[in-house]
Amino acid sequence: MVGAAIVRALRAQGQTNVVTRTHAELDLAEQAAVRAFFAAEKPAQVYLAAAKVGGIHANDTYPAEFIYQNLMIEANVIDAAFRSGVKKLLFLGSSCIYPRAAAQPMREDALLTGTLEPTNEPYAIAKIAGIKLCESYNRQYGVSHGIDYRSVMPTNLYGPGDSYHPENSHVIPALIRRFHQAKIENAPVVTVWGSGDPRREFLYVDDMAVASVHVMNLEKPLFDQYTQAMISHINVGSGEEVSIRELAETVGRIVGFLGDIRFDATKPDGAPRKLMDSTRLKTLGWQAGVGLEEGLARAYRDFLNPL
Ligand SMILES: NC(=O)c1ccc[n+]([C@@H]2O[C@H](COP(=O)([O-])OP(=O)(O)OC[C@H]3O[C@@H](n4cnc5c(N)ncnc54)[C@H](OP(=O)(O)O)[C@@H]3O)[C@@H](O)[C@H]2O)c1
Repeated sequence: MVGAAIVRALRAQGQTNVVTRTHAELDLAEQAAVRAFFAAEKPAQVYLAAAKVGGIHANDTYPAEFIYQNLMIEANVIDAAFRSGVKKLLFLGSSCIYPRAAAQPMREDALLTGTLEPTNEPYAIAKIAGIKLCESYNRQYGVSHGIDYRSVMPTNLYGPGDSYHPENSHVIPALIRRFHQAKIENAPVVTVWGSGDPRREFLYVDDMAVASVHVMNLEKPLFDQYTQAMISHINVGSGEEVSIRELAETVGRIVGFLGDIRFDATKPDGAPRKLMDSTRLKTLGWQAGVGLEEGLARAYRDFLNPL
């Protein structure tokens, strides 16, 4: 989802020479294949959007795959990029890098200040390793080789290209799928897990892509002014918080579901609030452009007619 959006953003800005590979074409967990790819293509810049991703269920069921695949992808890509002379790289992490009890909204300096959420700890550890790979390569080779590897931590993303897998998808695509199904079956009720009270932040994927290109292209003195060598990552959020109840009602309305929405409070809620502090990026000149209502309408159009 995000990789495709970054390609759209780069092309929209006039980049004509964007090299991509699908998972089927290049397994980034295979070191030799990754080194061969970089040696042959010698890109000037790298956006690393590939990762093994999924919701709570997938993270809880496949912890070994989540930590192994993500560590391998990052280590292989970042090191092979360095060996082939890539000067600029952007690594995509996730808000789950922050401690489960981090003060809200979560600032970049909350990293490594407490215990992680256990359900996605393996994934979070791999993402933290990705940030530390970028920082460590910068610290060791930044001056000698002129490299500048940066990281961005997006909040929950949604939009065209999302996964609508019945078990492994995130909350917005899961709701779109269920409300759509209920509409076509004329079901009277959709039941949503949890009380509906937790508040979450969402960002439309094309906004994330524009933010990624923005961070990649920031002049180094400006970037350095607002980051530190060992707290170098930048949060990317909309700043817009919504309760799961409001979210479900909005998705139901956009999909055209006319029945009732119920909340099953016997099911777990997760953290009451998860909001990024995106002050750093705002100060650096970016802010979200697509509101939730408009973004959900576009996402539903994509669900009906995928890109
Ligand atoms: N979606 C969100 O809400 C969200 C939130 C925060 C951060 N992020 C981050 O944003 C990035 C992109 O996420 P996304 O939502 O765009 O996920 P996505 O749609 O699943 O895209 C990830 C891509 O990586 C590919 N991939 C996985 N393992 C690979 C491997 N070993 N070799 C090559 N390609 C591989 C996947 O291919 P297959 O599908 O064929 O395996 C898929 O095309 C990730 O780093 C993720 O952590 C996403």
